[in-house]
Amino acid sequence: MSIVTSQEMFAKAYAGGYAIGAFNVNNMEIIQGITEAAKECNAPVILQVSSGARKYANRTYLVKLVEAAVIETGLPICLHLDHGDSFELCKACVDDGFSSVMIDASSKPFEENVALTRQVVEYAHAHGAVVEAELGTLAGIEDDVKVKAEDSSYTRPEDVQEFVERTGCDSLAIAIGTSHGAYKFKPGTKPQLRFDILEEVSERLPGFPIVLHGSSSVPQEYVQMINEFGGDMPGAIGVPEDQLRQAARLAVCKINIDSDLRLAMTGTIRKYLAEHPAEFDPRKYLGPARENIKQLVKHKIVDVLGCDGKA
Ligand code: G3H
Ligand code: 13P
Ligand code: ZN
Repeated sequence: MSIVTSQEMFAKAYAGGYAIGAFNVNNMEIIQGITEAAKECNAPVILQVSSGARKYANRTYLVKLVEAAVIETGLPICLHLDHGDSFELCKACVDDGFSSVMIDASSKPFEENVALTRQVVEYAHAHGAVVEAELGTLAGIEDDVKVKAEDSSYTRPEDVQEFVERTGCDSLAIAIGTSHGAYKFKPGTKPQLRFDILEEVSERLPGFPIVLHGSSSVPQEYVQMINEFGGDMPGAIGVPEDQLRQAARLAVCKINIDSDLRLAMTGTIRKYLAEHPAEFDPRKYLGPARENIKQLVKHKIVDVLGCDGKA
């Protein structure tokens, strides 16, 4: 088995009414936690690298760690660029062995988004890779880009068919009320995704895979752990998992999760170091962090995505 594209994963997920988890990776322990969980659940998985993660780890390490995970697990694993912001970055990742790239030109006017996405699709398809594009703008923080809630906008279903036809993209991220980061909804309000938009989009794009970004659920056990051991995260609220499960049954084939892994890792390490103040062997706190990432990902695969046993 080698790194695969998401094409077959999405076709099966669409037909089967489940979704593939796309988890952000930054280092070895995160990659191991996710892929050990996927292995135990016999689940296909997407490991995604943001431009910030690529800068942090440099262009080689994460690719080689993902190749190691393929060898260790024998699973179908897709290596994906998350939120690529230029043709040059998408091209560099395809050249480095990524099987999938996202070109995120969602903040640009429609015609510019079409033109840039088309350019990336032509290069990626000529080199055996697939492309995710985005229409509509999510609120929240990615790298250095901060989109205020009032500047975010839902995807307009009337645009999607023309966009997909003109760009040739392989999947489409849409904005239906999710957002990046750990503060997705105002405390005291009822989180509710816009399933009406999702349904209208999928009626216009029958059989076409839809992607949901900003899909962390912000587990309160880890928020509390962080707060208990010196952190300060009041009012951190995520997307209810039952709504993600519902989206996975519909046209959503890829669900992006990063913040939940960060919370599990940081909460575990804070707790460990608070309880073992004399410890200075990194393996002692990174090991439990990796284990809790694994348990979290198993829960997502089985209870939220429904992709267990689908590898
Ligand atoms: O959507 C953004 C992801 O959570 C990646 O975050 O850009 O800080 O690596 P990052
Ligand atoms: P979260 O911040 O909700 O984990 O979203 C991650 C994401 O969309 C990565 O592209
Ligand atoms: Zn995202």
